[in-house]
Amino acid sequence: MAILKKIMRSVAAIVALSSMSAYATSNITNTKHNLSATGTGTIKAAAGDNNDEICVYCHTPHAANTAFVGAPLWNKATPTGTFTMYGTTIGGTTGDTTPNSPSMACLSCHDGVSAINSMVNAPGSGGYNAAGANVKFGATAAGTAYTMPAGVTQIGVDLRNDHPVSITYTAGRASLKATTTTLTSWAGAATIADLLRNSKVECGSCHDPHEATNGTFLRVANTGSALCIGCHAK
Ligand code: HEC
Ligand code: HEC
Ligand code: HEC
Ligand code: HEC
Repeated sequence: MAILKKIMRSVAAIVALSSMSAYATSNITNTKHNLSATGTGTIKAAAGDNNDEICVYCHTPHAANTAFVGAPLWNKATPTGTFTMYGTTIGGTTGDTTPNSPSMACLSCHDGVSAINSMVNAPGSGGYNAAGANVKFGATAAGTAYTMPAGVTQIGVDLRNDHPVSITYTAGRASLKATTTTLTSWAGAATIADLLRNSKVECGSCHDPHEATNGTFLRVANTGSALCIGCHAK
């Protein structure tokens, strides 16, 4: 009995350890997506202003913006800009005419128009930061919108110069591999199918916004263009 218990205990320990290594892949704390004062970037909250949470800049447990189907518990307003898509202007015609929620979620900060420091449900009990109010970021005063500054991280509203998003993945087009193709060492995906959102390529196909290890939040390090040839047989 005692031996059996011991075996059971070590089996439980092994299961716990292996599930840890399978899931403990991302650590947003040490990234530019930690927008609290402890983040590694320069665009972040001023210290000590009831704004020191991490997830809250993107997600809320309550009162989320339900217009974002597919961007879970989204805590930001829907962008108001008009987007120009890649597919409707150059090359293919299969792209959607506006970004879908999983990409719109990223663009709700990266469009250069939406306030990064604005939330639907701000941290705290509701008394300190009113809903929709901008929290104090860097040297900007509380209440001032902080938009993505010009530079490569400002994707903008014109997506013609970006890899297509909100486009259906059709094997064979642009030498795309079968969706059943196995991926090795990608964060959060075992096959190409896992990268797709409603059968489409979105920002989250290539990026995991919580992923710290591969740089620029990529799902796989792009050494030897491993990311690109994950989907394209080139
Ligand atoms: C900078 C924005 C941002 C921050 C900050 C953020 N997330 Fe996310 N999260 C996203 C987006 C965007 C998605 C959808 C991604 C996709 O399509 O793959 C997502 C998806 C998720 C999902 C569902 C998919 C999955 O990966 O399992 C969970 C759970 C989640 N986030 C939890 C968290 C938690 C917990 C925190 C804080 C520690 C956090 N997120 C911080 C943007 C963010
Ligand atoms: C709440 C606002 C917010 C959301 C939502 C958001 N980001 Fe960011 N992201 C930032 C900020 C701020 C930076 C830092 C920009 C800078 O320093 O120029 C950043 C930086 C990045 C970078 C560059 C990282 C580096 O190491 O240089 C990538 C890549 C990125 N974001 C991708 C995404 C993707 C993909 C999504 C959606 C899945 C997303 N972001 C959603 C705010 C956001
Ligand atoms: C097909 C894959 C793919 C898709 C889809 C994609 N990205 Fe990227 N993204 C990359 C790669 C690869 C890099 C790294 C480029 C580099 O190192 O210069 C990158 C870099 C970035 C950067 C950092 C700035 C830069 O150019 O280095 C930001 C910000 C970013 N992506 C945001 C987004 C957003 C927002 C979306 C959706 C609208 C998106 N990405 C869709 C592959 C992709
Ligand atoms: C998640 C799968 C995926 C990944 C990863 C990916 N792509 Fe794509 N790529 C697509 C899809 C889907 C299309 C749209 C094909 C179509 O229907 O025209 C596309 C289109 C393209 C096109 C445009 C073809 C045209 O006809 O205009 C180029 C170029 C391209 N990808 C290059 C890249 C590069 C470079 C990388 C790595 C940075 C990359 N892709 C990573 C899925 C992917």
